Amino acid sequence: MDKNEILKRIENSKSTSELETVNVDVLGKSGSLSLALRELGKMSPDERKVRGAELNLIKQEIISAIENKKSILELSEINEKLKSDKIDITLNKAENIKGFVHPITKVREELLQIFATLGFRLVSANDPDIEDDFHNFTALNVPEFHPARSMQDTFFVEGGNLLRTQTSSVQIREMERSGVPVKVITMGRVYRSDWDATHSPMFHQIEGLYIDKNITMAHLKGCLIDFLKLFFEVDDVPTQFRPSYFPFTEPSAEMDIRCTLKDGELKIGANGNRWLEILGCGMVHPNVLKSVGVNPDEYQGFAFGMGIERLTMLKYGISDIRKCYEADTRWLSHYGFDANDIPNMITGLSKK
Ligand code: DAH
Repeated sequence: MDKNEILKRIENSKSTSELETVNVDVLGKSGSLSLALRELGKMSPDERKVRGAELNLIKQEIISAIENKKSILELSEINEKLKSDKIDITLNKAENIKGFVHPITKVREELLQIFATLGFRLVSANDPDIEDDFHNFTALNVPEFHPARSMQDTFFVEGGNLLRTQTSSVQIREMERSGVPVKVITMGRVYRSDWDATHSPMFHQIEGLYIDKNITMAHLKGCLIDFLKLFFEVDDVPTQFRPSYFPFTEPSAEMDIRCTLKDGELKIGANGNRWLEILGCGMVHPNVLKSVGVNPDEYQGFAFGMGIERLTMLKYGISDIRKCYEADTRWLSHYGFDANDIPNMITGLSKK
C-alpha cells in the first residue's frame, strides 16, 4: 500500500464511479488499507502503537481526499447532465379528459334511491360472488337434480362452489343474518354461461325481499307498480302479472309492461303494441322460509329480481349489452353521465 500512489489515483479519477472503485480498493473489506490495519494484530504492542497511529493518519488523509474529490466530481457531473438534458417546451400538454358515470352505475343509483323511498334497506355489498350450493340453490327450494338448475347454467370452481347465478342467494344470507321481519334490497354481480347481444356471462341484478306477518300479493303489486312509475318517470304504467314458475316463490309471476319499443326507444302506455317482460317476482315459498328457520304459518312475504343491464338498456336506449363492458370512451361519452348532474350520489362515486 503506497499512500502517494493512492492519493494520485484519487486525484486522477474522472468520474464518481471511478472514484468509488478506488474507495473499494483501499477502504473496502479487502482493500489495501483494511488489510494493513488487520496486520496490526500480529505485531508486538510497541510496534502496533507506532504503526497504528501512522495508519490512522493515512486513513484520515485518504478519506478526506476522497470526500473532496467526490464533491468536485458530483458537481461537474450535475453540470454535464444539465447541459445535455433538454426540456421540450413545445410539446402539447396532455388533454384533460373528463370521466363519465357509467350508465349501469347511474341506474344502480336510481334504483337505490327509489327503493330507499319505498322503505327498503340496502344490504350485503360484501356477500360473496363465489357462492355455495346451499345459498344459491338448495335453500331456495332447488334441490340437487332439480331441473330448474339447468336454466341457470354457471361456472363451478373447485370444492363444489359456483359463481352465483342470482342475487336470490342474498335472501337466504340476509334472513340467516338478521332474521325476520325483513325489508331489503341487494344489488350485485351474477354469472351465467351466456354471451350474445342481450346476455353477458357477468351481469348485475337487483333483488328485493319483504317478509312480515301480513304481507300479501297486493303489497307486491303496489310496490312494483310504484317502482316502475318512479324508474321510468311516467304517471301510469299498464302492467300485467303473468303466471310463471320460480322454485323459490309460490305463486310466481313475471311482470310485463305495455309499451312500444322501436329503434331502442321505449314508450310506455296503454296504446303500446306489446307486453314486455321486466322482472320476476312472487310470494316467497314456505320451503325457503323453513330453510332459514322461519315459520311460514307466522311470516310471509314477497320477493322480486331483475337484471340491471336490462333496465338500463330499456331506459337509455342501449341495444347491445356487450358495449357496456368494452370501456370504449366514445361509447361512454355518449351514454355516460356527468357526476355533477347526479344529485346526492351514494353508490360508488363521489362528486368531484
Ligand atoms: N332469481 C331469478 C332469476 O335470476 C329472478 C327472480 C324471480 C328473483 C323471482 C326473485 C323472484 O326474487 O321472486 O331469474
